[in-house]
Amino acid sequence: MTILVTGGAGYIGSHTCVELLNSGYDVVVADNYYNSVPAVLDRVEQITGKKLARYECDIRDREGLKKIFSENKIDAVIHFAGLKAVGESTKLPLMYYENNISGSVVLFEEMAAAGCKKIVFSSSATVYGNNPIPYKEDMPTGDVSSPYGRTKHFIEQILGDVYRSDNEWSISLLRYFNPIGAHESGLIGEDPNGIPNNLMPFISRVAIGKLPCLTVFGGDYDTKDGTCIRDYIHVVDLAKAHLCAVDKILGTTGIEAYNIGNGKGYSVLDIINAFEKESGIKLNYVIGDRREGDLPAFYADASKANKELGWTAEYDIDKMCADTWNFQTKNPDGIK
Ligand code: NAD
Ligand code: WQD
Repeated sequence: MTILVTGGAGYIGSHTCVELLNSGYDVVVADNYYNSVPAVLDRVEQITGKKLARYECDIRDREGLKKIFSENKIDAVIHFAGLKAVGESTKLPLMYYENNISGSVVLFEEMAAAGCKKIVFSSSATVYGNNPIPYKEDMPTGDVSSPYGRTKHFIEQILGDVYRSDNEWSISLLRYFNPIGAHESGLIGEDPNGIPNNLMPFISRVAIGKLPCLTVFGGDYDTKDGTCIRDYIHVVDLAKAHLCAVDKILGTTGIEAYNIGNGKGYSVLDIINAFEKESGIKLNYVIGDRREGDLPAFYADASKANKELGWTAEYDIDKMCADTWNFQTKNPDGIK
């Protein structure tokens, strides 16, 4: 079986390529390297001892996609390619709609043209907006606070319409919670350009001395220690969820959404404490103002994925922090 992985050189995509190759799938990656480098794919090959096919291709490039589908018999697609910076999306909404939504539409059209109607889509817990916690898949979605989040909601809706128009499609919408951590080899991990927006890469850059101080966004929330609660999930657990979803869509038709989280909430201070324990480094941080748009607390009810995909997260926050630190220390300047 051959899987096309869009955005396969990125953070979650690269870890998923490792799991796919290790499970015997053939892998074809399409990435424009906007937020990644080809060397990541060399490292995927190094970890697995297997080769993958790679195309420098933008998903908005119809001819590029036609070439991929004509040169490979693709059985299913895992669609990671997209822009993901929430703050940037509020300043550049059209760039996000064009890249994420227009790109996805071109991809779905070319999949249909090639007769490949099986897809796993990277969605996000952000589609739930302000629902009661824990989030469940049957809750209303779409009351989202950023253009980025709306691209995820709209693409879910588009895929719903695609399925309703043609019941041969098999679609899995994976709603990720907060992926952190890295492959235990330390060869691949999260390597953002510039100043990180997300908590874990910010923490590890402070720990390695590349940034002076972490600001904890808000210490006065109505939570156990006043800081926000999130559902952190090890990226390798998340990657494995894609294997389960691919196995499922290869044998069925339909459209289903699944929460991919640990089902546990940890505060920002819990993460800082776990990171300090695993790295042996005392982290320089201050409690600052709240960040606009942050919800106080959310985490997953992941029981649907547990039951229907046969997937359960295995790793705890100590392992997430240990693997993040291992990647950071082995790649102090990132992957070039
Ligand atoms: P990433 O930026 O590391 O990976 C995305 C990859 O897609 C990059 O390699 C980038 O170069 C590529 N890409 C972007 N636009 C493209 C285009 N038009 N054509 C081809 N390639 C393109 O991000 P990630 O953290 O690995 O996230 C992967 C997916 O998961 C994204 O869709 C993201 O929105 C979604 N997601 C991420 C998180 C998270 O916290 N990391 C949470 C929920 C959902
Ligand atoms: C986690 C916690 C911050 C940075 C985002 C997207 C979401 C999904 C995952 C893609 C929050 C706090 C952070 C810092 C801090 N992505 N924090 N200081 O906001 O939960 O989710 O990434 O789909 O859609 O919104 O993740 O890592 O930015 O923040 O105190 O410097 O850490 O307030 O409580 P978030 P995050």
